[in-house]
Amino acid sequence: MVPPAARVVVLVSGAGSNLAALLAAHAAPDFGARVVGVLSDDPGAGGLDVARAAGVATAVVRPSDFADRAAWDRALADAVAVFSPTLVVSAGFMRILGASFLSRFAGRVINTHPALLPAFPGAHGVRDALAYGVRVTGCTVHLVDEGVDTGPIIAQRAVEVLDDDDETSLHERIKTVERALLVDVVGRVARGDLAVDGRRVRLG
Ligand code: GRF
Repeated sequence: MVPPAARVVVLVSGAGSNLAALLAAHAAPDFGARVVGVLSDDPGAGGLDVARAAGVATAVVRPSDFADRAAWDRALADAVAVFSPTLVVSAGFMRILGASFLSRFAGRVINTHPALLPAFPGAHGVRDALAYGVRVTGCTVHLVDEGVDTGPIIAQRAVEVLDDDDETSLHERIKTVERALLVDVVGRVARGDLAVDGRRVRLG
């Protein structure tokens, strides 16, 4: 008997190409995960259109509708909980998840970041890597803790920086690699291949 697919909720703020890659993968019965809901902090996020086009339920929880960050964080957690997720994937979600959100989904939230952490955390990982002059950067999929891109690393892939790269060209090449990595990690985590020992994470 095929075990039921893990229920995945994806958080997006941007175009949603990582989400689109997950949606392309989840159709395969042996992938082991199914995207059941997509949430955003921004009603204009392209990722919401990607979800709607795939027939996946969406919701928007806007920070400006709440008195403070903690209230928004609780409301986001409530909206995610509606989908009873096994796994929450932050894929280009440009907000920090707070303590109440993380305690609700402890150990089940993963994020993708367009740099080789712990180098260049934060909102401008590609720009910062380029400005620093590194010759190799890449992407990281990690478990989310309360810090900014500080959680235990699940997987990373390297991308070379070319002499004529600007932020856009480098980010596009990173995103190609990042999408494949995220799909691989989400599938393996969903299929139960994740072992966490402090900061050391093993996949399969
Ligand atoms: C990704 O590179 C993600 O790591 C970063 O923003 C990008 C989102 O791309 N934080 P998309 O919205 O999935 O196309």
